[in-house]
Amino acid sequence: MNLPIFTTPSELGHYLQSHRSQAIGFVPTMGALHLGHQSLIDRARHENTLAIVSIFVNPLQFGPNEDLDRYPRQLEIDRVICETAGVDALFVPTPESMGIKDALTQVVPPPMMMSGLCGRTRAGHFQGVATIVAKLLNIVQPDRAYFGEKDAQQLAIIRKIVIDLNIPVDIVGCPTLRADSGLAHSSRNQYLSSTGRSQAAVIYRSLQKAQTLAKGGEIQSQSILTAVKIELATVPEFQLEYLELVDQHTLQSIETVEKIALIAIAGRIENTRLIDNIIVGG
Ligand code: PAF
Repeated sequence: MNLPIFTTPSELGHYLQSHRSQAIGFVPTMGALHLGHQSLIDRARHENTLAIVSIFVNPLQFGPNEDLDRYPRQLEIDRVICETAGVDALFVPTPESMGIKDALTQVVPPPMMMSGLCGRTRAGHFQGVATIVAKLLNIVQPDRAYFGEKDAQQLAIIRKIVIDLNIPVDIVGCPTLRADSGLAHSSRNQYLSSTGRSQAAVIYRSLQKAQTLAKGGEIQSQSILTAVKIELATVPEFQLEYLELVDQHTLQSIETVEKIALIAIAGRIENTRLIDNIIVGG
């Protein structure tokens, strides 16, 4: 059977009406699906009776100088991936059908969670993510929604808005999927040459150094972060944007690793912005 594709909230709502008695798993995406997305879809299928995927390149989460126009769009390929993966329905709204307009009610996550890490250079990004995710969750009303742990700040913010706004959904964080080199799968990897991809492997390699150090008993954030920087410096083409050790829920910097914490990195290779993170301590 062909995978049904809905382009408006009301069409999708009509379809879901007859499936409300089933457990619904939802994977919101911006398309350009890769193995990381496929692992979210597999999990959604496994843990629910119905798996819904949305593809929407959300203009609200791109700044004026970011890659909205250039962001990879490959709907036919994504459709085949979803059909092969056993997705039950695809939601591909347009900005119009999502009601994106100038005077739009926005969801504003706590500023302290948005201002650090990626928020430092991406003003408005997490407000755009929070607004669209809240809209999508209201439209689909899933039992569970699946997000990658690679976007750790996004995941922490989504968990927070779901609690604070009493949105009745389980947010499921899924482990980052990596290439053999350790490079985290990301839609933006498409922008990289093969040289760029192998250079970008330094990101995870440096995070692993930090994890090894923390496992060996190091608790001082500065020492752990210095080890990461030394490894990153072995690939001068990598331009570091930030490197921080933070509490994984509040996203605030910490001096010592007393419990599970997050090391988050962002930087550029070949002018492509890449992010990654690893858990340490605990
Ligand atoms: O992670 C993404 O692909 C996007 O930020 C999301 C969650 C689909 C919201 O547009």
